[in-house]
Order: sequence, then C-alpha cells, then structure tokens
Amino acid sequence: MIETDDITESVVSSIAQMKEISTSFRKQNLTTGFVPTMGCLHEGHLTLVRNSLQTCDRTVVSIFVNPTQFGPNEDLDTYPRELKNDIEKLEALGVDAIFFPDIKEMYPAGHNTTVQVQGITQYLCGKSRPELFKGVTTVVLKLFNIVRPDHAFFGEKDWQQLAVIEAMVQDLNLDVVINRVAIVREPDGLALSSRNKYLSPDERQTALSLSRSLQEAQSEIRRGTTSAEIIIRSMRNLFLDQKGVQVDYIFICDPESFKEKEQIRGRTLIALAVKVGPSRLIDNCIVEEF
Ligand code: PAJ
Repeated sequence: MIETDDITESVVSSIAQMKEISTSFRKQNLTTGFVPTMGCLHEGHLTLVRNSLQTCDRTVVSIFVNPTQFGPNEDLDTYPRELKNDIEKLEALGVDAIFFPDIKEMYPAGHNTTVQVQGITQYLCGKSRPELFKGVTTVVLKLFNIVRPDHAFFGEKDWQQLAVIEAMVQDLNLDVVINRVAIVREPDGLALSSRNKYLSPDERQTALSLSRSLQEAQSEIRRGTTSAEIIIRSMRNLFLDQKGVQVDYIFICDPESFKEKEQIRGRTLIALAVKVGPSRLIDNCIVEEF
C-alpha cells in the first residue's frame, strides 16, 4: 500500500504534469535522460540513474509496477514495493523528477492498444512468459511518449528486454537513444534484482549457482569446448542436487537474433532463468571468441 505521506515534491503522478515538465525541459534546450523501473531500487537501477545524470541535463526515473507484463500466475501482487526508500535514494542522487503514475490513468477502462515486437520475442523469457514483452513494449512506448526522453537507459541483466526495446525504437522510428548498462553484481557474483528480496538466506546461497554456472561455462569454453549441448549439460548439473530449484531455460544463442547455436563460435549469449524458491531469477553473459 502506498502512503500519501511517502510522496514528496519530486514525485509526479499525473501524466499531464509529467508532460508539462518534459516540455519545459525541451523549451530550455535541456536534454532528458529517462530510466524506467518497477521500483524497489537497488545498485543496478541506481547505476542506470548515474549514467543518465552523467549523460543528460535532466533525469527522470519512473516507478511503475506494470500489470500488463505479468502473467496470470506471476508475482504482480507480491512484487516488492518500497516507494519511500526509492524516493530517498533517487533524491539523494539528484534526479529531477520521479514519475509514479497511477494504474488507472495509465490503463483507463477501454485501453485497447498494445505494441508487440515479433521474432526475437519468441525465445527465452518471451517463450516462458508470453505476456511479458507485449506488456513491456506497450508500457515503455507510453512512458517514452509521456517523458519524451532524448536518452533512455536499460540494463543488460535483461538482455532480451534491451534487444526488444531497441527493435521497437528502430522499427517505429522513435527519437530516443537507447543506452546499454552492464550487469551490476553483488561482490559474490549474484546479479542484483528486486526479486532477490524474496530469497531466504539459504535460497540466496543457492541463487549464486546462476552466476557460478555462467563462470564455469566460460572457463569450459576457454578450455576448448565448443559444443553448446555439452556446456548446457554441465550448467544443468550444477542445479541438479539443489533443493527448491527449477531450471526454466539455459539457452546458448546469437546475442542479436537469439537464434540457437549448436557450436559456440563468434560472439555468443549464454542466458538462463531459474526458479529458486519463490523467485524466478535470470542472468546472462556474453562469450567473445576465445
Ligand atoms: P526493473 O526490473 O525494475 O528494471 C529496471 C531497469 O533496471 C531495467 O533496464 C533492468 O535491466 C535494470 N536492471 C535491473 N537489475 C540490474 C542489474 N543487476 N544490473 C544492471 N541493470 C539492472 O525491467 C523492468 O523493470 C521493466 O520491465 C520496465 C522496463 C521498467 C518496464 O516495465
């Protein structure tokens, strides 16, 4: 539940007001950087924000747990919400506006338009979560139209999401530069994620297997293994004896087209999604030719 006391001056909830602010930035010839998020902010998000602050004159961050990108049995209701903390973190960094729209204003009755990138959305997370990318592209295009940024910042942790956004920007001739930001990890390798909040101490330990499996895969490839099947088998083995763990996918493919690779040659993406206890976690790495 959001308490109204949590809302401070830098928080903008109305779409009309957000549009006015972005128009005023434009009129003053100030460039706008934009970081869309679903809140519960961690160092991964804050790194995107710092990139925006460095690149642009003004920075807008949105916090919106977008219902249309969650499937019927997913974690929309339990998705962590920490608005007060988020606002404090963003104000400390010096962002110019925090856009926290109302669900009813974003999706009023009769909202009937969606945006869908075809092709690359059929693999990986798009295959396991069929609602995901249609919801993501629809909300991101709406947010782009409201904030009208010159630059937007997305993390490589969601590698496929980035590729899908880039495809939408290119295909629909949008005037926004998409900036990629590398994955931010805990010192022990775990990729930061809002969903890490759900993990018990034991589960957090288990969750380390995602980044470990990627590191081991890279070592095996460096030692000369080129068969994707062999690499995937060794990665799967790491999860075999773990309690409460369910591998959704481990996929080795071209980083742009997402076409599956049998042989690891040239630039290659290794991506995985694993359910650890209540959290579905994702991670990935790029293997350059060794
Ligand atoms: P969310 O999961 O909140 O992530 C917001 C942004 O933070 C995304 O671009 C994501 O890739 C980036 N991010 C998350 N963890 C990161 C990490 N460890 N290192 C680097 N970047 C990281 O992704 C979404 O929200 C939504 O789908 C959204 C784009 C906001 C649309 O609703």
